[in-house]
Amino acid sequence: VNIGILGTGMVGQTLAGKLTELGHNIVVGTRNVAVTLASVTPTGYGALPPYHVWQKDHPKVKLATFAEAAAHGEIVMNCTSGMNSLEALKLAGEINLDGKILIDASNPLDFSQGIPPMLSVSNTDSLAEQIQRMFPRVRVVKTLNTVNAFVMVNPSVIPGDHNLFLSGNDDEAKLDVITMLTSFGWKANNIIDLGDITTARGTEQYLALWVRLYGKLQNPMLNIHIAVGDPPKM
Ligand SMILES: NC(=O)c1ccc[n+]([C@@H]2O[C@H](COP(=O)([O-])OP(=O)(O)OC[C@H]3O[C@@H](n4cnc5c(N)ncnc54)[C@H](OP(=O)(O)O)[C@@H]3O)[C@@H](O)[C@H]2O)c1
Repeated sequence: VNIGILGTGMVGQTLAGKLTELGHNIVVGTRNVAVTLASVTPTGYGALPPYHVWQKDHPKVKLATFAEAAAHGEIVMNCTSGMNSLEALKLAGEINLDGKILIDASNPLDFSQGIPPMLSVSNTDSLAEQIQRMFPRVRVVKTLNTVNAFVMVNPSVIPGDHNLFLSGNDDEAKLDVITMLTSFGWKANNIIDLGDITTARGTEQYLALWVRLYGKLQNPMLNIHIAVGDPPKM
């Protein structure tokens, strides 16, 4: 499948690497190709090398503008910094996204007041809903945002059962996304479809707990397992 990945950070690189390994045809999008290739800053606070070094190990992955990557994708993935996702998607262009599945892995984290970050949108709205409102014809599916990039594509790095969530208005799009997630190794039983796109408020606000767990454990390879008992007898 032709997939456009918007974002050159550790999520964009990790998803691009995995999807290429699985035989998909990937174009990664950035604001400015020359600037991204010239960067010597490691990605993800040192978790991965600078983009041009990573690219040498992944020669099949093409780097292009956000608009070119979106145009390439039958499926498009938003892996841009949440505070800037609307701007990045505007650059990707409505015409290039029209009618497509947009997998939104971003989180609206606002680091302007330091760590832990705040959410730039919450309670009565979410970034996923802002994206869906901006592009009503795009089939937005929020998922993957609750786990670290390495866990996204290799859930077995965390032993046992643990969960991933889906939010979106289009049931067929969600089924297609589940197919991609199971190809990463997620067990279908561990994927919880929360419902329409407003349910993304829950997974985005979960980040308030995720960043504190990370602070406490000093290890990003963490996830939650939803354990369910019998309903109470009335
Ligand atoms: N890191 C993780 O493990 C993880 C896990 C779950 C969810 N997430 C979420 O996934 C998203 C990507 O995270 P990340 O750590 O891979 O990278 P990131 O540093 O949060 O985002 C990098 C991307 O954002 C783009 N960007 C930055 N400022 C922009 C602006 N003003 N206008 C347009 N685009 C802009 C960059 O464009 P250029 O390419 O042009 O520089 C780059 O492609 C975030 O929303 C994050 O919260 C991350």
